[in-house]
Amino acid sequence: MTTVPEDITEETVTAAVVTSFDGTPDPRLRELLCAVVRGLHGAVREVEPTIAEWERAVDFLTRTGQMCDDVRQEFVLLSDVLGISSLVENLNHRKAGGATEATVLGPFHMTTSPARSNGDSIDEVGGAEPCVVTGRVLSVSGAPVAGASVDVWQADEDGFYDVQQPGVQPAGNGRGLFTTDADGRFWFRTVVPAHYPIPTDGPVGALLTATRRLPFRPAHIHFIADAPGYVPVTTHIFVAGSPYLDADAVFAVKRSLVRDFAPVDDETAAHRFGVANPFRHAVIDLVVEPQRTGP
Ligand code: BEZ
Ligand code: FE
Repeated sequence: MTTVPEDITEETVTAAVVTSFDGTPDPRLRELLCAVVRGLHGAVREVEPTIAEWERAVDFLTRTGQMCDDVRQEFVLLSDVLGISSLVENLNHRKAGGATEATVLGPFHMTTSPARSNGDSIDEVGGAEPCVVTGRVLSVSGAPVAGASVDVWQADEDGFYDVQQPGVQPAGNGRGLFTTDADGRFWFRTVVPAHYPIPTDGPVGALLTATRRLPFRPAHIHFIADAPGYVPVTTHIFVAGSPYLDADAVFAVKRSLVRDFAPVDDETAAHRFGVANPFRHAVIDLVVEPQRTGP
């Protein structure tokens, strides 16, 4: 005689799906899948969507995937506006004792930055107001890290990245890959970036519109500092006084990363940095922690 299985009901379906992963050989994969199922089932129980609403959600995710290509990552953008990217960064930073606070990578790091020498300009267009950024890569012990790579990318004075304006900005404008000197120092010339809207021409933009949210990010410069034996840090510096510092569309502002882009009126310093006087100057030390060895 065959046994008839119990009906799957709204009370039992979550446990049934969780149990279906019992044979997963990779324990971390099992933990992740079970947690995702519990979380999603919890949301479904809370809102009790209609079939039409479920279909709309599937359509939204389908269009989000269809928007992705080599230069556009709408799923990362979705993760950003839902604060998931920020939460992942924050959780991971908890383990990074003393390092510079990390913040989101964002979708505009999709090209390789041109290798540049310290003192070079990443502004290939000749913006209105020169700016100098100087800093060091330091270990959490305070020791300078020589030979570290510092990858930099930023929007221009109008709030556009090079990849958003092909034919207007040269490829590589606002980007540079620098190497720290023997004292761990790096420095470059640029312009002060403007605040800008994240891309709004896809499903994520429609979500922001539907929820009356603004798409803006405060002005910032992105950095990734990396050196052999250290955990890379992906971060920004934010321009003090920028609009939207208190309303970042992707929840990525940290007070520790806000910097004065101080006006400097000093002919000697301007000559030393190779910029017109007066100019703006921002300073950032990027602190990296040694990679842990062993379990
Ligand atoms: C960015 O800063 O480049 C960025 C981050 C998240 C979403 C969109 C843009
Ligand atoms: Fe950005």
